[in-house]
This record gives sequence, C-alpha cells and structure tokens, in this order.
Amino acid sequence: MTLVFDNLTKRYGANTAIDGVSTRFEPGTIHGIIGPNGAGKSTLINMTAGSYSVTEGSIRLDDRQLDRMKKYQVANAGIGRTYQNIRLFDQMSVLENLEVCFYDRAKSGIVGEVLWPPMARRRAAERRAICMEYLTFFGLEHMADREAGSLPYGRQRMLEIARALAQDPKVLLLDEPAAGLNHQETAELTERLAALRAPGRIIIVVEHDMDLVMTVCDRITVLHHGKLLFEGTPAEVQASHDVQIAYLGTEHDIEDIRTAAQDRRARLGLRTGRHPQ
Ligand SMILES: Nc1ncnc2c1ncn2[C@@H]1O[C@H](COP(=O)(O)OP(=O)(O)O)[C@@H](O)[C@H]1O
Ligand SMILES: [Mg+2]
Repeated sequence: MTLVFDNLTKRYGANTAIDGVSTRFEPGTIHGIIGPNGAGKSTLINMTAGSYSVTEGSIRLDDRQLDRMKKYQVANAGIGRTYQNIRLFDQMSVLENLEVCFYDRAKSGIVGEVLWPPMARRRAAERRAICMEYLTFFGLEHMADREAGSLPYGRQRMLEIARALAQDPKVLLLDEPAAGLNHQETAELTERLAALRAPGRIIIVVEHDMDLVMTVCDRITVLHHGKLLFEGTPAEVQASHDVQIAYLGTEHDIEDIRTAAQDRRARLGLRTGRHPQ
C-alpha cells in the first residue's frame, strides 16, 4: 500500500495553493508535512480526504485514483482525518462520538441484528468494547459518558484523533493535532502518535510543533509557497540550508529543536534517522 501524489496542483482562481507536488507515502511510516502558514498544507490534506477537488495531477492509493472519487468513497477507501479546527458531535457523549463510526462500517450486519436481537446486543457490546479501547489509549476512558462539547480543549483534540482511528483508516491525516495543546499535552500526543505507527498504516501529520515533528516522523516534506521545497529524514531536514532559510529560523533555533528531539527520541526508545521498512 502506497499513497502517491503525482504533479498535484490546486488553484483557487488565480492563487496557486499547491504547485506540482509529487511525492509518496509508505506504509508503516509517519510522514510529516511542514511549512509556513499559507504554504498549502491544509489544502493537501483536504484534497487527499476528497474535501477539495484537484486542479491538476493525481492522488493514488495503490491502483485507486482518489481524486476521481466522491468524499464518502475516499473515506470508504480508507482515508481518515482530523481537522485543523475540531469537529466533534458536541451534544453527544464521548463514547457515542466513537460509536457512530461503526454504524457505517457494520451496515451489512444490520439485517441480522434486526431479525435476532441477541445478535444486536452482542454486536453493540463488541462495538462498545472496541471504542473503549480507543478511549483508553487516549486517556479518555473515565470521560466516556460526558458530553463531548464539555471536555477541555486538549481532550477534544484527543477524542477527534480517537474517532478518526476508530474507523481503522489505512491513511490517517492529522491537520495540526498539537495546535492549542499545552506542553504536557503535546508530549502525551507525541508518545501516542509514535505508538500508532503500524505496518498497514500511513500517518500524515501537518504540524507546526517542531519537537513533535522531529521526534515522531520518519520522513518530512517541506512545503513553501505551494511547492515541495525539500524532503528527507528529520536529520536531513534539519541540515538543509534551504529549509533553514525558509522556515526553521536561525542556527540557534535549530540546535534547540535538534537537542529536544534527541532527548525525546531517547526517552521513547526510538532510533534516530529511522527509515521506512
Ligand atoms: N477554500 C479556499 N478558498 C480559497 N483560497 C484558499 C482556500 N483554502 C486555502 N486557500 C488559500 O490557499 C493557500 C494555502 O492555504 P492552506 O492550504 O490553508 O495553507 P496552510 O495550511 O499551509 O496554512 C493560501 O493562500 C490560502 O489563502
Ligand atoms: Mg493549515
């Protein structure tokens, strides 16, 4: 399974937001997308999720051309996402926010459930158990019955990721998951993301928090004015002069980022400069 962008281009009228980007995303990896505000990161996510049309070029998941599909077909093909601005069902409970994902997935079983109530009860119990596992992974199990809209912001972010994950996506798209999180919450998120790396899954994370990106990503794509400026391992990105000029700041800032990332990698037991399997 590989996700491939080929000469991907998005124009909003005269504004070219994404300009001929070609790259690929390998299973078993966490792939970061960084770049200044307005670089086109969310546009890439939105095109991949089928929310925005593609002006030129293509997005393929193996032999399936995602940019020709409707949004729900893209979701059914295994693309899951979170949004830069949180979108939860605020009035529903935390647990219900996850359970709703299953009604689509389990459609084929509904007839049996209607004809045979014990089966319905068993399936419902199974769904609940699976949802509780995701909630536990994100530290939300004790909040399962609370209204989602009443949770603190950081918890809502975690819930949004849990919900995207509960749909068991092949490709998980995260648009600035650490935005608005405090230091402690960002550290928790970093650990959880690292634990989500799985052989059959591609995780794409758009993020401004350089500690998080440099710690968890196997590869990083740097966007600048809609163009692919650089691509490589965290170490290669940090060493790139172009990236330094365009984005990361002074040599002093980069040294801080590098040191922090090394510390975290060591703490999480991750190897440096990891390559996709
Ligand atoms: N829905 C839209 N309609 C028109 N222009 C848009 C839209 N979304 C984004 N843009 C423009 O596309 C460019 C890239 O935006 P965006 O993808 O949001 O960047 P980033 O997520 O990297 O900050 C910006 O110039 C932005 O103004
Ligand atoms: Mg954005």
